[in-house]
Amino acid sequence: MALADRPLLGWNSWNCFLTAEERADFTGLTAEAILGCAQALVDSGMRDAGYEYVVLDDGWQADHRDSTGRLLAHPTRFPDGIAPLAEQIHALGLRFGLYAVPGSLTCAQQYDDYGGAPLGSLNHEELDAQTFAEWGVDFLKYDWCRADHNDGLTAIDAFTRMRRELDRIDRPVAYAISEYGRFEPWLWAPRIAHMWRTTDDLLPTWASLMRTLDLQADLAAYSRPGAWNDPDMLQVGNGALTDGENRAHFYLWAVLNAPLIAGNDLRTMTAGVRDLLCDPEVIAVNQDWGGRQGTRIGPAGAGEVWAKPMSDGGAAVVLLNRSDAPLEITATAEDLNLKTAPRTVREAATTETSSFEGRLRRLVAPHDATLLRLS
Ligand code: GAL
Repeated sequence: MALADRPLLGWNSWNCFLTAEERADFTGLTAEAILGCAQALVDSGMRDAGYEYVVLDDGWQADHRDSTGRLLAHPTRFPDGIAPLAEQIHALGLRFGLYAVPGSLTCAQQYDDYGGAPLGSLNHEELDAQTFAEWGVDFLKYDWCRADHNDGLTAIDAFTRMRRELDRIDRPVAYAISEYGRFEPWLWAPRIAHMWRTTDDLLPTWASLMRTLDLQADLAAYSRPGAWNDPDMLQVGNGALTDGENRAHFYLWAVLNAPLIAGNDLRTMTAGVRDLLCDPEVIAVNQDWGGRQGTRIGPAGAGEVWAKPMSDGGAAVVLLNRSDAPLEITATAEDLNLKTAPRTVREAATTETSSFEGRLRRLVAPHDATLLRLS
């Protein structure tokens, strides 16, 4: 199977170890912590559920390059360097990802006492790609950060430069780019990258989830196997998100065929969060390609219907209650525009199956959602 034929599944360090200003001191970001999360990915059953990549985000670098221009790992956070870490992650049956930047400075250099050495890959693309290959990197998150440190390169040129270098190394690397959806990446990124961010950072709040979701409504035409819209990494299990909010978030990202990159502390997650992240019904919906990613069916509002076609001719449907009060949400077969009339409905949460009588009707709790499979 080709790289990223299905939305990538994994875990990334950013959302739990640091969220910009809040925890800009990088406390907790160490080789030991990353390995602990990788081990938890295995022990929790997430690896076996399909989560494959462990991605080390910003903050892994030393504050300078070596005398030959090579990137170095941070001396106290990753004292043994990156290659041994990648090796240990590989030994767990996982793949390893790393963060870099197309400009001269990484994002962390805005809010950490890193200083101004060029830790970004601008004009170091060839050497950095070679270094990543030597270290055993399988996934590169390449993050725009600041336009004023890109030597006037356009985003498309900057991201293409690294694409060319990745093509020249002897290692398949999943390429995830991020310019926060500023330059309509869905129009050009499918030719360069396996996934591209469509928005600014997703925060662990209901307001941020709904704002980000709304920005996905018009993007269904642009993704396909090998090239995915990325509404940002999961915040499931983070902040003060409730069980219902976590559920709605996960179901929605699944029907969007979004890469599912968990961002919670896997070492301390609750059984509820683990069970949600491992739910085989939801992951199967996410990994299935029915010809188009999911989108909003019908009007935006307090109660919404999001649906994606499934390859079996059926559909996966999320009934979403955005409001603060319980709401009855309905959808008909016509709304879903299916080629063949579905006969059964299955609830993802309970796997209970009933016959489909032409209309879905569910009472959904506030800030919550129901995921249904029509076959
Ligand atoms: C942001 C990016 C985040 C994280 C952070 C690291 O630009 O959107 O996902 O990678 O940089 O500094």
